[in-house]
Amino acid sequence: MIKYLGSKRVLVPTIGALFRASRAQTALDLFTGTTRVAQEFCRSGAFTYAVDTATYSEILGQCYVEADSHQVDLEEVHEALRHLSSLPPKRGYVTEVFSETSRYFHPHNGQRIDAIRDGIEESYANSPLYPILLTSLLEAADRVDSTVGLQMAYLKSWAPRALQPMELRVPKLTAGTGKAIRGDSSSLANSLPRVDFAYLDPPYNQHRYFTNYHVWETLVRWDSPDHYGIACKRTDSQDSSSKSPFNSKRKMPRALRQTVIDVNADLILLSFSDEGFVSIDDLVAMCSEREDHTEVLAFDSKRHVGAQIGIHNLAGEKVGTVGRRRNTEYLILSGEKDRVKEIIASSGVSSTR
Ligand SMILES: C[S@@+](CC[C@H](N)C(=O)[O-])C[C@H]1O[C@@H](n2cnc3c(N)ncnc32)[C@H](O)[C@@H]1O
Repeated sequence: MIKYLGSKRVLVPTIGALFRASRAQTALDLFTGTTRVAQEFCRSGAFTYAVDTATYSEILGQCYVEADSHQVDLEEVHEALRHLSSLPPKRGYVTEVFSETSRYFHPHNGQRIDAIRDGIEESYANSPLYPILLTSLLEAADRVDSTVGLQMAYLKSWAPRALQPMELRVPKLTAGTGKAIRGDSSSLANSLPRVDFAYLDPPYNQHRYFTNYHVWETLVRWDSPDHYGIACKRTDSQDSSSKSPFNSKRKMPRALRQTVIDVNADLILLSFSDEGFVSIDDLVAMCSEREDHTEVLAFDSKRHVGAQIGIHNLAGEKVGTVGRRRNTEYLILSGEKDRVKEIIASSGVSSTR
C-alpha cells in the first residue's frame, strides 16, 4: 500500500478488533485515504462505503472495496500486467515533469510509468480491470519514488529504491463488495445510506492531501496539468475548490461537528491526535451531541516522518529543530452506552488513558 500521511497502518488491528466486536454488517470509512481501514471492514465481511475527495482514493476504493476477489479473474489480471510491463518506455508527462523538471522518479522508471499509464488508458479504459491495473501502477510507482512519503519535495540525491526497476504486482483484493465514493464528507454525510458502524479519520491540521499527493492525483486523472514551483504541484491546487475545510483551523471544528452529527450510523469511531486543531474535550463534546455515550481510547504513537528525520528545505538541507517524536492517537467510540462498553470489553483493546 502507498506511503501516506496519517495512514492508520499501526491502528488497523485495533480498529478491526473494535469493528468485529460490534458485529457490524455495514460500514462507512468517511476519509478513506489508502482504504486500508475500509479493507479491514471488507475482510471482516461488511458491505463498506469508502469516501474521500482524492481521485486516487476513489481508484484504490474501486480496486480494494468494490472489486470482489471471488469474481475477478486473476489470470486475466496477470496477463494484463505482463502486457503493460512489456510496453516500450516512452517520454511523456511523467518523464518530463516528475523525472526531468523535478526528480520524483528516475527517468528510467518515469518513461515506464508514461508507457504503462497510456497503455492502461488505451487498452483497459472500459474494462473492470481498470482500477486494479491503475492501483498496481500507483503502488509500483510508490515503491520506486524518491521522496520521504510526501510530494511537497523530493530527495536531493536519488533514494536507493528509485534506482530499482519498477515492478507491477497484483493488488491483494478483498472478498465481498462495497462502494467507493469521491466527494466532500461534510456534504455527503447526511445523504449516505445508514450503516452499523462509521469510521471517521479526518485530516488533523493544515497539511493538505491534494498537494502532498499531487503526483498520485495527476497519475490517476492523467490530465497533464500546468504546474508551478520546484515541487511541480498542480496549478489547480491554488483553486478554492481543491481546498478542504478540514485543513483550516477556523473552519475545521464546525465542519467536523456537523459531520459527526450528520453521519447515519449506530456506532461512530472517530480518529484524532493530540496534535490536531481540536482538543480531546471538544471532540468528546461533539460526539456527545449525538446523544450517545462516548468512550476515549488513547495510544502512544510515533509521529509523522518529518518529526523522525528532521525538517528539510526544498534543497534537502536540514533546517530548524525537531520537537517531540511521539504523540497520542485517540479513538473515540460513540453509541448506545451498554453496547459501547461491551464492544470495548470484548475487543481486548487496551488504552493507555
Ligand atoms: C488522515 S487521512 C485518512 C487516512 C486513512 N484512514 C488511511 O489509513 O489511509 C485524511 C483523508 O481525508 C481526506 N479528505 C480531506 N478533506 C476531505 C473532505 N472534505 N471530504 C472527504 N475526504 C477528505 C484526504 O484526502 C485524506 O485521504
